[in-house]
Amino acid sequence: MFIKWRDQMSVGVQEVDRQHKQLIAYVNELYESLKTKQNRDEVLQKTLDNLIQYTIIHFAVEEVLMNIFEYPDHLEHKKIHRALEKQVLELQDRIRKGRADITVEVLVFLRDWVNNHILVEDKKYGPYLTRERLVDHKPVKNKLWSWPFSRK
Ligand SMILES: [Fe+2]
Repeated sequence: MFIKWRDQMSVGVQEVDRQHKQLIAYVNELYESLKTKQNRDEVLQKTLDNLIQYTIIHFAVEEVLMNIFEYPDHLEHKKIHRALEKQVLELQDRIRKGRADITVEVLVFLRDWVNNHILVEDKKYGPYLTRERLVDHKPVKNKLWSWPFSRK
């Protein structure tokens, strides 16, 4: 196993933790795929594609949550997401064009990237995504009930 989930990685929100575990699972799968004997490049590319697609969905989910719970730094966090997306999409493009290979170095980059995303950036919004804030905070509550069914 290349990355191991640790309890300290929890941001305190079950669904977000579940998605983070899935991200880690994809990086671990990529690591395992490096040892593939048959169609190695194909398997690696498919796994990388899955990781990237899942990351983009995960970021979108986080952005909706940060918005609903009015996390004060959500714009800053969004910028970080866009920058990370750009980085991995560029990597994907280089690999597709044969200008880069998925090597252990790439895996180390992805590991640091996932670790930093969870342990540093997401840890910051964790305390804002609480049940108390949802129950007590009227604007948040109203926003949640109206979204995504608002017709405005
Ligand atoms: Fe995250």
